[in-house]
Amino acid sequence: YRNVRVALLGGGTVGAQVARLLLEHADEFAARVGASLELTGIAVRNLDAPRSADLPKELFTTDAESLILGADIVIEVMGGIEPARSYILQAINSGADVVTANKALLATHGTELFAAAEQVGAQVYYEAAVAGAIPIIRPLRDSLAGDRVKRILGIVNGTTNFILDMMDTDGASLEHALAVATELGYAEADPTADIDGYDAAQKASLLASLAFHTNVPLESVHREGIRGVTSQTVELARKAGYVVKLLAICERLTDLVTGEEGVSTRVYPALISRDHPLAAVHKANNAVFVEAEAAGSLMFYGAGAGGPETASAVLGDLVSAARRHVIGGPGMGESTHANMAILPMSFVTTRY
Ligand code: NDP
Ligand code: HSE
Repeated sequence: YRNVRVALLGGGTVGAQVARLLLEHADEFAARVGASLELTGIAVRNLDAPRSADLPKELFTTDAESLILGADIVIEVMGGIEPARSYILQAINSGADVVTANKALLATHGTELFAAAEQVGAQVYYEAAVAGAIPIIRPLRDSLAGDRVKRILGIVNGTTNFILDMMDTDGASLEHALAVATELGYAEADPTADIDGYDAAQKASLLASLAFHTNVPLESVHREGIRGVTSQTVELARKAGYVVKLLAICERLTDLVTGEEGVSTRVYPALISRDHPLAAVHKANNAVFVEAEAAGSLMFYGAGAGGPETASAVLGDLVSAARRHVIGGPGMGESTHANMAILPMSFVTTRY
């Protein structure tokens, strides 16, 4: 076998599981790719921090830059804007392909990173950045590229779904449910990103940009989080036959007066009828409905957060990148069908 050198930036909830699975299944990866995937190191901040997997100590380093220099593929699962942005640019400029789960970075600096990659013929893979384990980036970018997506609607934040579900089923407070979600590794390093809808808005911006083949900037996404959702709200909704869910909605709209087409992208807590399929999305699961002109309605469902679950998506991208490195050959996502209907608590339209 040839050797593909893989540098891992981040050894936290996701990174530790990426490393574990990569080492545990090294032979299978080699057979699938036609090359050995050599994990050359794991860049972290603190060499003594506890890890969620038992990994060889000698793999860890605080010298991310040296690690990037010798890599064919760089996986960025550090999170945050800097130094993640600079490291990814360094990787691209040194000829490596990049795999990232960092939606905060892509939603704010994606244009810069994709342009830098295009300039040198590198690829940036980001299946894990939206909806954890669920294949949704590739289906939108590749499988549905010949169709015309009209609307995307879904639950794209695992932490808030976990919290709202726990408030609904156990009568838990938002604070207690958030503590549990954080303990389980679902929440962002700063959970405000989850609670106030920033994470879902970042994902909505990425989904809308892909689906509508345009740049949908984060600033154009209307955002309301779940901070104002109290136990009383959840209880009242339940008595009325509804459940509260944080929804992300991206849709094409036609101006009735001018006939011009625009895009509306918004994130807000909504009342969902208990017999709607979205009401059955429990714990940290996500669900994304896609309505396309020719394909009709498609539903993507599964784990929206968590170490091993997200590592699955990261490793899928790694296999694609490694195959490209060796022979070329992207992977494919999967989908199933379902219907949809919603009752929003609020509705704000953004056009540009
Ligand atoms: P963690 O906070 O658990 O891990 C971050 C890792 O990056 C840690 O190992 C940390 O080092 C390292 N790190 C952070 N900053 C630096 C730095 N400046 N230099 C070197 N190493 C650094 O985050 P997660 O694993 O939960 O998330 C990682 C990324 O994946 C984020 O972008 C997140 O949004 C995304 N993501 C997370 C999901 C999840 O369910 N957790 C799901 C989907 C995406 P140290 O350990 O020493 O502190
Ligand atoms: N904090 C994020 C969530 C991680 O809860 O959905 C997955 O992107």
